[in-house]
Amino acid sequence: MCAVEVNMTYEPFSREPEYVEANRAFVGTLPLAGVEVLLDLACGTGVMTDLLAMACPRLERVLGLDLSLESMLIALRHFRDTGALARRGIRLQLLQGTADLLPVAGRSMDAVVMGNSIHMLPDEGRLLAEINRVLRPGGLFAFNSSFYAGTMPPGTEKVHHEWVKQAAVYMMDRDRELRRQGKPGIRRKRGTAKKAFSKPWLSIDDWKRVLRERGFRVEGINERTVLMNQRCFETIGAYAGLAEVLFSGYPVQLASEALQETAGPALAAVGMTEVPRLWLEVAAVKERET
Ligand SMILES: C[S@@+](CC[C@H](N)C(=O)[O-])C[C@H]1O[C@@H](n2cnc3c(N)ncnc32)[C@H](O)[C@@H]1O
Repeated sequence: MCAVEVNMTYEPFSREPEYVEANRAFVGTLPLAGVEVLLDLACGTGVMTDLLAMACPRLERVLGLDLSLESMLIALRHFRDTGALARRGIRLQLLQGTADLLPVAGRSMDAVVMGNSIHMLPDEGRLLAEINRVLRPGGLFAFNSSFYAGTMPPGTEKVHHEWVKQAAVYMMDRDRELRRQGKPGIRRKRGTAKKAFSKPWLSIDDWKRVLRERGFRVEGINERTVLMNQRCFETIGAYAGLAEVLFSGYPVQLASEALQETAGPALAAVGMTEVPRLWLEVAAVKERET
């Protein structure tokens, strides 16, 4: 059904210079000097793990946990090929699982960092309770996310509307073409919407409140502007994790292709080459058990 080559993993976007630099800058703001044992939650392809390891001079052990085996295999290959952790004698352990039910002993982590994924969890209270459990008293919890109320600077929403509209038209055109050839058209499976995106994104005040309720003291909040160019839109659009949320129920390969192929035309239609997006960055410490 696909007409063009699409890499649907998170890897292409996670290696975009704009993405790596935004995450590097975030990690650079964190108090990591004394961290020996670290949990990289929803570690994906290991971009954050790499940056965190570089920023922790005393790191002895890093755990990465993610739902996606495919992403963790990319991370594993990366660390094996670069030898970045082994050279410094840092032990790496990768675990497949969900971030809100951790196979990790209580009070065993100096720091937990969750890059670009906290918005994917359906129940942030339950997630934070679990992070609180595994952190030692005074331990650091930090996350960043570009999915929160306020993430799109005024005037940029139109890009996203145009992009989704053009991608929908792209899929309808493909459907018409298939039917014209006497083939079955594209079917949407109903009732498969992802829970995490079916609720409103949290605001900064919401995050402060839920962190406080779960025993954390917020130490730092920042909003970082990242400029997304056409290539960024193409690679993040091709990522199955986004495509299946934006076009829930449609064949994910086709949705990925549609988003990848219409990123350029959508930007051209609104007359923009770069689109600012805000990344929320939060650092908190465990103040009490919950
Ligand atoms: C956008 S990627 C971010 C990866 C990496 N942390 C980074 O900053 O580059 C989101 C990751 O969250 C993972 N994920 C989604 N839901 C999860 C869950 N409930 N538990 C653990 N990982 C999850 C996905 O598999 C994906 O690898």
